[in-house]
Amino acid sequence: MAWEFVEKKTPIDAWITEYHNKLITKLFGGNSLYGCYALAVTIFSLGIIRDHIYNEALMAQPTHPLLLNPLIKYASIPIFLTGNTLVLSSMWALGVTGTYLGDYFGILMDAPVTSFPFNVTDAPMYHGSTLSFLAAAIWKGKPAGILLTVFVAVMYKIARGYEDPFTGMIYAKREEKRQGGKKAL
Ligand SMILES: *[C@@H]1O[C@H](CO)[C@@H](O)[C@H](O)[C@H]1NC(C)=O
Repeated sequence: MAWEFVEKKTPIDAWITEYHNKLITKLFGGNSLYGCYALAVTIFSLGIIRDHIYNEALMAQPTHPLLLNPLIKYASIPIFLTGNTLVLSSMWALGVTGTYLGDYFGILMDAPVTSFPFNVTDAPMYHGSTLSFLAAAIWKGKPAGILLTVFVAVMYKIARGYEDPFTGMIYAKREEKRQGGKKAL
């Protein structure tokens, strides 16, 4: 996978720097790549803590006998595998900077990723993560986990409402710049 590092001091770069990554990049001596890696480590660690808290919270909740029906319990296995396949394959396809908000640091992908799992769902990371929460809730037989999963899905939907337009705008601006470059030649 080839990466394109947006050259310094383009209008897009200046705009992103000004509004989004100033602080983190400054902390890393102006190196946006290191800034993005630091954010990646942070988000990844918070994810592990989040999963731990989720599992602990579920343990304290009552179990519903209906969910303990083997047919339902074992249905959680393919759900879990599907969820993890979506999350891991999208991380693989996007790389570290693509997965962890590289676009906020002016680190853009060469082209939008359309290969698997992006040819199956437009948000494999969010959908995969939601499926994993659901699977854990079913496996443990906890209705509260299913409710929490619905809550998580709503939060993800809200997050995408902010994230998708921003990503779209960044790439549209880059495309404008590329077109401008071609005309100048
Ligand atoms: C998605 O791409 C994979 C290969 O990357 C392919 O095997 C699969 O059939 C594709 N699925 C759809 C729905 O196009």
